[in-house]
Amino acid sequence: MIVFKNIKKVYSNGTVALDGINLKIDDGEFVFITGPSGAGKSTMIHLLTCEDFATEGKLTVAGTSLKRLSHRQIPKYRRKIGVVFQDFRLIKSMNVYDNVAFAMRVVGRGGREVKSRVMTVLEIVGLTHKISVLPDQLSGGEQQRVALARAIVNSPEIIIADEPTGNVDPEMSIEIMKLLSSINKNGITVVVVTHEQRLVKAFKKREIRLSKGHIEFDTGAQEQVGAQAEENNREASSDVPKRRRSARHVTEEDEDD
Ligand SMILES: Nc1ncnc2c1ncn2[C@@H]1O[C@H](COP(=O)(O)OP(=O)(O)OP(=O)(O)O)[C@@H](O)[C@H]1O
Ligand SMILES: [Mg+2]
Repeated sequence: MIVFKNIKKVYSNGTVALDGINLKIDDGEFVFITGPSGAGKSTMIHLLTCEDFATEGKLTVAGTSLKRLSHRQIPKYRRKIGVVFQDFRLIKSMNVYDNVAFAMRVVGRGGREVKSRVMTVLEIVGLTHKISVLPDQLSGGEQQRVALARAIVNSPEIIIADEPTGNVDPEMSIEIMKLLSSINKNGITVVVVTHEQRLVKAFKKREIRLSKGHIEFDTGAQEQVGAQAEENNREASSDVPKRRRSARHVTEEDEDD
């Protein structure tokens, strides 16, 4: 589970990029993060990947409080997450196979295990016929699929993608989203930043829209509020008052551990 509790991020120049974000993302969810340029989307992603830290509040990912992570603990935490960037960030001098294998080797895995796992993930993204090709000789969509293979090769719990379709054509955008969706069906939590409302509409997943560092709306939370309202009605009619709170939105009453 990912929990943002009163997260505030103020950059050193005084820009308030996130201003009190409260939300929960359950294990196995697929979530779109949307919003206009400058809304704070990438900032949220950078906090999740420990490229940066919150100024205030508490961010917990898969039971780990990121505030307390030391430099030594960050690599271990990062093994739980797979990250996909808009600009792919492949190693230009390595072919497709080695770009993916490298991600396993840096975490100390080697031998036959690497070969079979790399081939498995390249199969998932449909690139086994390109294993010896350098990134420059691939299309944008192919490069992004290599990046996706690299992100999943170490079996992360969470995939985090910042505009993964920003540099691929519309058809390939759909393909990338389908791949993310099938990865999600295997139980991996997926958090995707996108500008493309077309994709959000097509894939009908939870959407968290940011605006100026705030949550403008959260369709997951709306479902939750709707379900809560229904439940309240039922409880009112059956005259059994109970006190529950949203499973997704953290409230002031949440205990601090
Ligand atoms: N390193 C930084 N130092 C200072 N301000 C920053 C820094 N990075 C981002 N910002 C500012 O923080 C705010 C949020 O930026 P962020 O990159 O999170 O937006 P975004 O929603 O990802 O936008 P885009 O859709 O353009 O990628 C913006 O006002 C931006 O100018
Ligand atoms: Mg951004």
